[in-house]
This record gives sequence, C-alpha cells and structure tokens, in this order.
Amino acid sequence: MQIDIKKTTSPKKHPEDKDLSFGAIFTDHMFNMDYNPNKGWHNPRIEPYSPIIMEPSSMVLHYGQAIFEGLKAYKTKEGKVHLFRPKDNIRRLNSSARTMCIPEFDEAFALDALKQLIRLEKDWVPKSEGTSLYVRPTIIATDPFLGVRASNTYRFFIILSPVGAYYAEGFNPVKIWVTKNHVRAVRGGVGHVKTAGNYAASLYAGEEAHKNGYTQVLWLDGVELKYVEEVGSMNIFFVIGDELITPMLNGSILPGITRDSVLAIARSWNVKVTERKISIDEIFEAHEKGTLKEVFGSGTAAVISPVGVIKYDEKIITIGDGNVGPVSMKLYKELTALQYGHAEDKMSWIEPVV
Ligand code: COI
Repeated sequence: MQIDIKKTTSPKKHPEDKDLSFGAIFTDHMFNMDYNPNKGWHNPRIEPYSPIIMEPSSMVLHYGQAIFEGLKAYKTKEGKVHLFRPKDNIRRLNSSARTMCIPEFDEAFALDALKQLIRLEKDWVPKSEGTSLYVRPTIIATDPFLGVRASNTYRFFIILSPVGAYYAEGFNPVKIWVTKNHVRAVRGGVGHVKTAGNYAASLYAGEEAHKNGYTQVLWLDGVELKYVEEVGSMNIFFVIGDELITPMLNGSILPGITRDSVLAIARSWNVKVTERKISIDEIFEAHEKGTLKEVFGSGTAAVISPVGVIKYDEKIITIGDGNVGPVSMKLYKELTALQYGHAEDKMSWIEPVV
C-alpha cells in the first residue's frame, strides 16, 4: 500500500530540550489508517496532527476496545535517528490486537509507516541526554454502536511526542505504595495486553498512593494478594544477594520490552537472573536479613526507575541507602548507551531511520 503524505502548512514551534516533560507536546504530523471488513486495512496516510472526528457512539468510548504501544526514537551524536526494538513493539501490538478481537495488520508495513512518519518529523527528535521522541501507535474501535461486541471498523494512528523524563524524580529513586485494596489484573484477563482499560483500572490506587506521598503502586497478584506483579506502569526487578529476580510472565503481567532487554543484558554479563513468583513477604524478609540490595522498575517511558522506599501495611522500608544502587545504575547506563548509539548493538535492537 502506498502511504499518501499531506504536509502541514502551519508547523509548530519546537520546544527546547531543557523544557521537555513527558507526553505533553505532539509533532506536526500523524499517521492514520482505517479498517472495515470490505477493504481490510486501507487508506494509509500521513497528514497534519489533528483531532479525530468521531461519533459519540463510537465503541471505543463505551467499551474500551483500544490497544497501544510505546517506543522511542533517539538522535545519535552523529545526528542520525534510530528506533529501539520497534519490531518487538509492533509484534506486541498485533498480539494485543488478537486478544482484543481487533483485526491484525501487516507488521512490515506498520514499521515502514512508522519510519516514514519519523523521517518526516526528524527535526522533532530531541538530542540531549535523557530525551527522545516517544512514539505512540494506537488502534481504536470506531463503529457507532451501543452494545457489547467487537467493532467492525477501526482507526490505526501513530502520534509522536518529544519527551524528557517520565517521572518528576528523573532517575532518582521513587517511593512505592503496596496496595491490598485493589488489583491491576487477574490471570485469564487482559493484564498481559497493552490495552487502555488496564491503565484506567490503575488510577484509583495510583491516586491513593499520591495522596499519601508515594509515586507509584506496587501491584500484587489478583488471586492471593501475595505475589508481586508490576509497579505502576512498569515491570519490577529485585536484587537479592547476587541474584536479579523479576516476576515470571503469568498472563496478568505485561511482557515488557525493556524488561526483556534488562534480562538479556544482565544474562550477557553472567548475572544470575531468575524469572519466578516472588512474594511481598519474601521481599520484606530479605530486607530484614539485609540481602535486599536493590529494587527498580523498567519500562519504555521510564527506562530504569530505581525504588527507594516501599510501604506495605504499616511497614516502610528503605532500599539500600535510599540512593540509586550499582545494578540499576549499570543497567541504566548500558541501556541508554545502546539506545543513543554509544554502545555496540550486539543484540541487533537498533533500527536505523535517518
Ligand atoms: C511505556 O512505558 O511506554 C508505557 O506505555 C507506559 C505509559 C504509562 C507511559
């Protein structure tokens, strides 16, 4: 399929890198493509970033049939632009589509569309350390219909946002609130899918955490309220003794691409890495024994987010000395070196764009 390109006649002013926060500014253009049962995915186009006109009865607004991805484009010091593991995000979007009864799309075509859009917007990719161009592919259900069933029509769009750090804390340790009152997802549900409702379901507990001075919620499993699943919108890792532990993917945890990158990098360093069930009690016992050295979250938006404090019931623990630990620091440095093109791309994770 040929992608039609219509350029804006009123380009926006670019922000300064130093003023970038996360997800608040959008570039001049977006990619759009539609689906209907007769034509399949059709009418791919890059056009000026603009509101989506849709009926108030559009199914996505009522039943949440929406999936999305988050990935980043980086500018190297030579001025080139590349993406980090885009094929993995595109594959995961199609896997989300299958689970949410959304028609699959051609992955090679989606990657090409993404690259064409970023090429057009290359001057929007910020270059300072810690900044990038966040890419948000999304698919929404557009049938104007009230009644619970899968939509027949969809819109696939990609928008771009120049970003700085996701958390106000930047790379400094965040405070985590463990909740037993709410769960994010249960096995058999859609916790492993990047679908909008999972994030809506996390808001109430997130607000509770914020009101109490905590940045993010640490989610326990939805069945026994015992095993650690995720932290906020990230996967979670623990360094206990000399072992790096993360909850195994069990159907209610998002299979994070940064999670996978952390595991691969740590394994390449011959670190003992374990994916298994890990209970909140085990974390607190390890802290008691002095073997809990570090805790950190991983995600595309936040990269590596060290955890400084965890509160569970009435117990509050400080991890290590409350500062960024050596494993979190080393992983952050290696990941960002790969992402900005300063380290050799031995795992073939980089996709050149410009
Ligand atoms: C990401 O890490 O890219 C996400 O999609 C999480 C989102 C809450 C920003």
